[in-house]
Amino acid sequence: MKVLGIMGSPRRDSNTEILLDKALEGAREAGVEVEKVLVSKLKISPCLEIYACFKDGNCSIKDDMQALYDKLLEADHIVFASPIFFYGITSQAKAVVDRCQALWARRHVLGMGKEDRRVRRGVFISVGATRGEKLFDGAVLTVKYFFDAIGVKYSGDLLIRGIDDKGQIQDHPTALEDAFRLGQDLVRGK
Ligand SMILES: Cc1cc2nc3c(=O)[nH]c(=O)nc-3n(C[C@H](O)[C@H](O)[C@H](O)COP(=O)(O)O)c2cc1C
Repeated sequence: MKVLGIMGSPRRDSNTEILLDKALEGAREAGVEVEKVLVSKLKISPCLEIYACFKDGNCSIKDDMQALYDKLLEADHIVFASPIFFYGITSQAKAVVDRCQALWARRHVLGMGKEDRRVRRGVFISVGATRGEKLFDGAVLTVKYFFDAIGVKYSGDLLIRGIDDKGQIQDHPTALEDAFRLGQDLVRGK
């Protein structure tokens, strides 16, 4: 079994990456292989809306997303992590989501992938600086629809308000433990 972690913050050692690492540690300790992808290190064009993917399920843009498609299809479970930028996920993370229109097309236009009977689950990790009630609403909707499009069940999240400075999450009383447990529970099917 394999868990894929997608790190959507453009800064390294970010609050998001710290939480993602904890979640992946939890998954690893629960006995599975894990892999982390740093989206900001990849060359991923935004979707160009040319619908080449509707023909055969493949995106015609040849960039680092091609390798990420394979990883997304192979993964049994996914941890998607992005801080809040303007009430949504980062543009780096959103480019990945939008390019997954090709995977949506495979399933919903071309009827591909029906032989895959795995129950794949995904969780979302996010942080934001402010504390408003609706802070994560937009991002959660995006990630829910993203998971649904690629055949992954949204099975939980860790959303932490009031986090702004780099590494500030380290001082949070519960977030690191919660992230670890989120990763463990993802693997254990809780
Ligand atoms: C371009 C940009 C937009 C942001 N927009 C929001 C926002 O809409 N709401 C919010 O609470 N924080 C916002 N923030 C703050 C980040 O969410 C916050 O600093 C977070 O801790 C960064 O996470 P990271 O360390 O994982 O990158 C924004 C930061 C940047 C750079």
